Amino acid sequence: MKIAVLPGDGIGPEITGQAVRVLEALASDGLRIELERAPVGGAGYDSAGDPLPEATLKLAEQADAILFGSVGGPQYDTLPRAQRPEQGLLRLRKHFDLFANLRPAVVYPELAHASTLKPEVVAGLDLLILRELTSDIYFGQPRGVRTNEAGEREGFDTMRYTESEIRRIAHAAFQAARKRSKRVCSVDKANVLETTQFWRDVVTEVHQEYPEIELSHMYVDNAAMQLIRNPRQFDVMVTGNMFGDILSDEASMLTGSIGMLPSASLNARNFGLYEPIHGSAPDIAGKDLANPLATILSAAMLLRFSLDQEAAAQRIEAAVRKVLAQGLRTADIAEPGKRTVGTREMGDAVIAAL
Ligand code: IPM
Ligand code: MG
Repeated sequence: MKIAVLPGDGIGPEITGQAVRVLEALASDGLRIELERAPVGGAGYDSAGDPLPEATLKLAEQADAILFGSVGGPQYDTLPRAQRPEQGLLRLRKHFDLFANLRPAVVYPELAHASTLKPEVVAGLDLLILRELTSDIYFGQPRGVRTNEAGEREGFDTMRYTESEIRRIAHAAFQAARKRSKRVCSVDKANVLETTQFWRDVVTEVHQEYPEIELSHMYVDNAAMQLIRNPRQFDVMVTGNMFGDILSDEASMLTGSIGMLPSASLNARNFGLYEPIHGSAPDIAGKDLANPLATILSAAMLLRFSLDQEAAAQRIEAAVRKVLAQGLRTADIAEPGKRTVGTREMGDAVIAAL
């Protein structure tokens, strides 16, 4: 089984470096995987003038799954949009039709204190945000900046969802809920936006095929509030690309650190791209400060969903729980009085715990 490793920019190479070491440790223990690296994002632009170089796409096509780091950096912010690092990621999502983005937010007991919310609000939280990833205002056409009839410049984007796009993410949500506590909350802005009223209608139709699942609907502004008021009311949250982007960053803070949250982006045949939900953090890049656990946990999701290696996935997850229980903390989850470890030392500890 082949894994394409696309480290990207900023802290991307460091955090994927540790996830690769964890995977290699499993490989030396009998897991039959092969890893190959290729540049993406700013690194792709620097080496080939393209955030998704041809050779990188080819490698990804030949692989069974993609392990992705992070992309972006201030030095690329003034490039034309097509050459910006983020396009490498967005094009991969679109190319492989990775419509189902799973972003679990789990509070580890040892880290309940690390949240800015009171421990009693977040303790025991286990939430799954299911974000649609290949449509919505992210990809809708037309978009741009033009001069309108009044002679004034205006910017515009198009929010758009087809019925089939909503149906397939709704099915994914109800199926995920079957394996959990059987509750789905669909998040929209149906009181204002046509597209999301349509979203609500289609989700409600698909729900008829899942009578055992409880479906609720919530406006996105209320959902943003409820997430910090009482996050444990949610089990599976399903929403569009844009709202999912925002709510998943918010949810990450419930868990204490965005450095802890993995994600999986899947298509209909379970091919997937796996990445931490955090960004490239240029301010701490190359300093051995970044938390590699979100990427290591993404590698576990990769083994589970794309390679069908549940036992290996659980070994990684158990190892992560163990290092947290042992008290190892990178700076983002530091506790007063406790020593912090760097990126590499955290990787070492996970490998030792395996
Ligand atoms: C994410 C990121 C991306 C997004 C960026 C890097 C394009 O914020 O994965 O949440 O907006 O989807
Ligand atoms: Mg985001």
